Amino acid sequence: MSASSGKKRPWGRGVLSLRHQPRATTVHNSAGAAWNAAARRWTVSASFTALPYRRMAEAALARAQDFPGTGYGLVTTFDCLHDMGDPVGAARHIRAALADDGSWLIVEPYAGGSVAQNLTPVGRVYYNFSTFLCVPHAISEGAADALGNQAGEAPVGKIVSEAGFGTFRRVAETPFNLVYEARP
Ligand SMILES: C[S@@+](CC[C@H](N)C(=O)[O-])C[C@H]1O[C@@H](n2cnc3c(N)ncnc32)[C@H](O)[C@@H]1O
Repeated sequence: MSASSGKKRPWGRGVLSLRHQPRATTVHNSAGAAWNAAARRWTVSASFTALPYRRMAEAALARAQDFPGTGYGLVTTFDCLHDMGDPVGAARHIRAALADDGSWLIVEPYAGGSVAQNLTPVGRVYYNFSTFLCVPHAISEGAADALGNQAGEAPVGKIVSEAGFGTFRRVAETPFNLVYEARP
């Protein structure tokens, strides 16, 4: 999990929701063990602040296509949908795991709708990351048609729609990220 607020937070990006929703139960899932170890450290850090955390976050090794639980009010994917081998499968699973009035918050790297629009300083750096990291990772998970981190809004919206969500909209952007909301 992560968020791009521009502010440096010592407890890490992953427990932002704990700070703002102190009564929430937060479950962190990632396919990467290193990120889960980091999430556990953030959780420990959070528990030592003065904030009234009622419930601790959990960190588990699970893919977005098969994480446990249902009835979630909010599912977040930070900078990882495009890394997945089966983003539609992940989106379908998230749709099934959400409560009827729940939301999926999707944060993806900033990208325009064409290669030409991405030939900016940020886009050029992202294309390099995508070539050496994102696309190979998606292929390693079985992707036949990897998104890459410069996919932009339309392909993400298509995935969301194919997964059966009713609404999809861009809700925020920064020079580095696009933020979308999908609802059942
Ligand atoms: C660029 S990192 C982003 C990490 C973190 N979410 C952040 O924003 O700082 C991409 C993450 O996607 C995770 N990932 C890749 N495939 C996944 C999958 N199928 N299900 C869940 N997480 C996955 C990786 O383990 C990695 O932690």
